[in-house]
Amino acid sequence: MQDPLLRYRSEFPILERTNYLISNSLGAMPRGVYASLKNYADTWATRGVRAWEEGWWMLGAEVGDELGALLNAPKSSVSTHQNVTTCQAVVASCLDFSGKRNKVVYTDMNFPSVMYFWEAQRARGARVHMVKTDDGITVPTGRLLDAIDEQTLVVPISHVIFRSAYINDAKAIIEKAHRVGAYVVLDTFQSLGTIPVDVQALNVDFACGGVLKWLCGGPGVAYLYVRPDLGQKLEPRLTGWAAHQQPFNFEVGPIRYTDPPFRFMNGTPHTPSLHSARPGIKIIGDVGVESIREKSKRQTAKLIELADQRGWRVNTPRVPEKRGGTVAIDMPDSQEVCRELLRRDILVDWRPQAGVRMSPHFYTTDEELEAAIGAVDEILKNRSVPTR
Ligand SMILES: Cc1ncc(COP(=O)(O)O)c(C=O)c1O
Repeated sequence: MQDPLLRYRSEFPILERTNYLISNSLGAMPRGVYASLKNYADTWATRGVRAWEEGWWMLGAEVGDELGALLNAPKSSVSTHQNVTTCQAVVASCLDFSGKRNKVVYTDMNFPSVMYFWEAQRARGARVHMVKTDDGITVPTGRLLDAIDEQTLVVPISHVIFRSAYINDAKAIIEKAHRVGAYVVLDTFQSLGTIPVDVQALNVDFACGGVLKWLCGGPGVAYLYVRPDLGQKLEPRLTGWAAHQQPFNFEVGPIRYTDPPFRFMNGTPHTPSLHSARPGIKIIGDVGVESIREKSKRQTAKLIELADQRGWRVNTPRVPEKRGGTVAIDMPDSQEVCRELLRRDILVDWRPQAGVRMSPHFYTTDEELEAAIGAVDEILKNRSVPTR
């Protein structure tokens, strides 16, 4: 039976030439980006500085709402930024580490940039507690929950782990944090667009991610959801004129904060990236994350089955409910294999402690998965590397 999601393939030019299994890193570009960026250039060329009041100034908030619809976030609760590291910095700038409650709890499975950022907050008084993985695939939820105590200020945590695609138990982590009075910053970079995310059902304090992977939105746009009750009272010290009640009055002196989402923004926005982000966000909404998730569970299971048949190590959870959109396969000589796959226009990546990461998305055919694994067979055979 024909897979209905394959009707979107023609929207992605790169799929005509390439076996594109790398949406965990950079999603394929939708054809609509050409028109979107042309619209940006035409507006700049013809309207000049008037473009700001005719749309550009508000664009960050509009794209925030479009992303908010995918997150089931209320209107005006999502601000846009350049990257996730900046989103963490905006959150941290709302917090005070000088009191007894100054502990930051996370795991070594977080994305390193997020880790580097919070480690650096030690200089501001943060006490960092890192919970280590036992197996390089999962997060020890029990130990993580135990570490979240009355002195914990914030728990920055990935929803889906970039290395292994393990799905963290966000609900349990958020419930425990709230029981002891701590905030959770949920990094949904590897979840939004491939598994359902509902910030209201989770009752999470902050959620952030970028659009360039599963949302096919290109580099330069990240989003930060702030729960509306917090959005009204938090005061980010990483701030600027976009967060002012009257930005165009150019008042001297301290900031007078406006409401979200602009309250959490700061300087001049990343207008070209906001344009390139829109077509991908729209397509993901049209396709529907539930359908994407169903297909992803089936195709990631297929990859695991093909790897198992060959005796290759799979560094991704086998239980579909705990697995995001990526399968990490550590076949013999996996780094070399990755290089050769790239040479053959089969786009994947390789990460230490993970192996070759393959990420089918809604536009991937089953034949492409078979072709990728078949290519690995051939590479290993030609190199005479043992497969077990
Ligand atoms: C879970 C996760 N968080 C964050 C990032 C990147 O952070 P930034 O947007 O700051 O580059 C990535 C990958 O690039 C990621 O997989």
